[in-house]
Amino acid sequence: MKENLLKSIVNCRAKHPERMNATFERIEEVLALLAENNLLNSFKTQTKTWGIKNKRSPLTKTQGEKIAEFLASHLSPRQIRKMSRLLHDAEISTREAIDLHEAFKIPVSQLEKDLVFVRGEGVWKTDTKGDKYLDMDSNYSATNLGMANPEIARGLFNQATQFISTKEDRVHIPRARFIKVIHKIMPKGLTHFFWQNSGGEAVDKAIKIAKAYTGQKGTIAFEGGFHGRTHGALAVTYNQKYRKPFLLHQEDWVHFVPYNDTNAVEKVLQSGQAKIVILELVQGEEAGIRLAEKSFVKKLRALCNQYKAVLICDEVQSGFGRTATKPGEWWACQTYGIAPDIMTIGKSFGGGYPVTAVVTSPEISRAMKPGYDGSTFGGNPMAMVAAFIAIRQMQEKDLTTNVVARNRQFVDGLKKMHSPLIQKIRSLGLMIGIDLPAKQDVQKFQDTLKQHGVHSSLSTEQTVRFLPPLIISENEVEFALKGIAGTLKKMAAENLALIV
Ligand SMILES: Cc1ncc(COP(=O)(O)O)c(C=O)c1O
Repeated sequence: MKENLLKSIVNCRAKHPERMNATFERIEEVLALLAENNLLNSFKTQTKTWGIKNKRSPLTKTQGEKIAEFLASHLSPRQIRKMSRLLHDAEISTREAIDLHEAFKIPVSQLEKDLVFVRGEGVWKTDTKGDKYLDMDSNYSATNLGMANPEIARGLFNQATQFISTKEDRVHIPRARFIKVIHKIMPKGLTHFFWQNSGGEAVDKAIKIAKAYTGQKGTIAFEGGFHGRTHGALAVTYNQKYRKPFLLHQEDWVHFVPYNDTNAVEKVLQSGQAKIVILELVQGEEAGIRLAEKSFVKKLRALCNQYKAVLICDEVQSGFGRTATKPGEWWACQTYGIAPDIMTIGKSFGGGYPVTAVVTSPEISRAMKPGYDGSTFGGNPMAMVAAFIAIRQMQEKDLTTNVVARNRQFVDGLKKMHSPLIQKIRSLGLMIGIDLPAKQDVQKFQDTLKQHGVHSSLSTEQTVRFLPPLIISENEVEFALKGIAGTLKKMAAENLALIV
């Protein structure tokens, strides 16, 4: 036991080349969580003479050994076990990690700094304090199979110790394996892949392929749509706030039209200004889970056929079973009963490991010629190993069947709460959003929900989103519902107190 404590303070590089020795500040932090104040004080007094000049520097071996000795003789076996685990999970203090992030990260988005997660198991995430939270975010839908999938981890380790990297246009065996199995779950007709590393990149490349095929640049995109932050993806993303700083708000080739409005689409197609249409079948990021209407999607497909326009479905978020309404529905386009010409896929493609792709028909793929594009990392051996294992597991675990059952359970549970604070529920599969009365209610809701051990996804306006890993069980959905009910009850009581 003492041995493990020592190893969590003085790192064994041969075993853990990814770690450093623990800092004094982290040990203080963990001790404050586990022990009485007087022990913390005597620890501080005792260590004063041990030459620790900077609390944030990794301890030396000698300092670490002395600290381990002290702790082992003052803590209970249970406390020692917990301390070893917490130090193993993070040898740097939470405060220092946040300070480093704030000091050196380009602040491109809102900093979420209340919880620093260090470990995952199934649908549970553990933070630096050792507290567990039910993951209702799955990194924006990227970890359908949980945060630490043992088979994916093993496969990545094996591949990294064999051959880590090769560019997109080289033949390699992990990709050959992947191609042998992927076609079983792809929508009919989408057979040709161009591998990328992020959803935004996949959208960029989808637009390039569509331009090469149609010989035109005009693109119809939808109000409320989100397609990523790379230049091309951002140009077709609706929110002006994201586009304007980069002077992408006046692009002459992008035509935004209202979602679910076929007349508006037809007007642009008729004018000949566009031959490309890009669409999210469920607007996930910006519109707070807004579903396309079935009749709109059918008509849109017909219009694209009529005007010889290319229809791109961006399934970066909705793909890989997330929106299933029937067992075996791996893509939202199957739920809607249409076949896109081009589809972008990403997020949980590699079970959390970054890999994305553009997929299209053989005919459209022929518009791309050698020299038109390339990628150093796209579809590299590690990415293909992760995707191969993830896709095999998604099928073996029959995730689409689980999605259908868990959607029903979750939505029924929300309805049964009859809470006046839930204004609306929108969902397709395990993309679930609830509208609270106002935007300012969201922070309160999410903070209270965390106290119930549930971590929800990013919010949009007054919508709170839930995007759990697709492996979530019946009991775990029940846990989430209990937390939501408790949160709503507390908020309702506080609102009432304010009125009185
Ligand atoms: C529909 C859609 N497309 C593209 C993207 C961009 O993906 P990434 O963040 O991997 O670039 C997202 C991200 O949320 C998305 O939801």
